[in-house]
Amino acid sequence: MIELADTLFKQPEEIPASVKARHIETIRAMLKRENAVLIAHYYTDPDIQKLAEETGGCVSDSLEMARFGANHSADTLIVCGVKFMGETAKILSPDKKVLMPTLDATCSLDIGCPIDEFSEFCDQHPDRTVVVYANTSAAVKARADWVVTSSIAVDVIDHLDSLGEKVLWAPDRYLGSYVQKKTGADMVFWNGSCIVHEEFKSQRLSEMKAVYPHAAVLVHPESPESVVALADAVGSTSQLIQAAKDLPNKQMIVATDQGIFYKMQQAVPDKELIIAPTAGTGATCRSCANCPWMAMNSLENLAQVIESGDNEIFVNPEIARQAIRSLSRMLEFKATQLVA
Ligand code: 13P
Ligand code: SF4
Repeated sequence: MIELADTLFKQPEEIPASVKARHIETIRAMLKRENAVLIAHYYTDPDIQKLAEETGGCVSDSLEMARFGANHSADTLIVCGVKFMGETAKILSPDKKVLMPTLDATCSLDIGCPIDEFSEFCDQHPDRTVVVYANTSAAVKARADWVVTSSIAVDVIDHLDSLGEKVLWAPDRYLGSYVQKKTGADMVFWNGSCIVHEEFKSQRLSEMKAVYPHAAVLVHPESPESVVALADAVGSTSQLIQAAKDLPNKQMIVATDQGIFYKMQQAVPDKELIIAPTAGTGATCRSCANCPWMAMNSLENLAQVIESGDNEIFVNPEIARQAIRSLSRMLEFKATQLVA
C-alpha cells in the first residue's frame, strides 16, 4: 500500500459565482484565441466538464480522451485529468502543445509502478507479452508491448489469448484479475491498486442492495473482486454511463468516482443515482469515491494555465518514440473493432 500524505492534495475551494463566471469567460476566450480544445475526464469538476461540452471539447473515459486528442485539429490540447492522460495526449500528438491545469495530479497506479522495478519484473518473464494499463508513466508504456484502458482490456487480452500469448499485466491487480476471469488467459500480475476504487466495500454494498432491492449495481473494474461480484454491469466510466441507460432499473448504485454523476445524470435524468458505500471494515475513507488527484483540476487553475501557457507536458522523445508503439496498437485495435 502506498503511503500518501494527505497534505499532498490541495483540493480546490468553493469560489464565489462572480469569480467563477470570470474564469469561464477567460477560458472560453482563450480557447478560441489559442485554437485550443478541452479534453476532460468524467471525474473532474462538473464545471470543467460542462465547459468542455459547451466549447466542442470532450468529456469521456481515458480511451476516448486519447482518441479525441489524437484526431482533433486543435493546436493546443488542454487535458483536465491526471498526469498519464496528458502524457498520452502528448505522445500521440507530439506536434501539438499539451497543457494541464495542474502537474501534481497523478494516480496511485502510476506511482505504484516505478519503471526500474517494473523493468526487472518484465525481465523475469521474457516469454510474456507485456500489457499495461493506461494509468502508467510514459516510461512504463515504452517498456510494454500493449497499452489498454478498462474499456478495451478484456477484448485485447482475449485477442492475445486466442493467439496463444501469455500475458504480463500491470499495474492494477483488481482489473487484471477481472480480465483474467473473463478471458481465462494465462496472466501474471503486478501488485498495484487504485486508492479510490479499493475503498468500495462488499459487505456494506450488500447491505445497501437490501435497502434498494430494485437498484442495479454499476462497478468500475478497478474495484475489489468481492465488489465486482455484486455488479449488474462492470466497465469503464463510459461503459457504466451506457449501462445506466441500457438497464431498466430506476435506481443505480454506482461504484466509481462521484464526478461521473454529472454526465450519468444527464444520460438518465429520471433515474436515481446512489454512491456505493466506502465505509466498513478495512476502510480508510481518505479518498471515498473521490479521486484526490482528479479533484486538483479547477476552473481557477485551468484559467491560469490557458492564459499563461504554463504546465506544458513534455515527454522524453526517445521514451515517446517507444511508447507510441504500444499506445498505437491499442488505438489500431479499437479502430478495427469499429469497422468490424
Ligand atoms: P476510465 O478509462 O474507465 O475512464 O478509467 C480511468 C480511471 O482512472 C478510472 O479510475
Ligand atoms: Fe488513478 Fe484511481 Fe484516481 Fe483513476 S481514480 S486516476 S485509477 S487514483
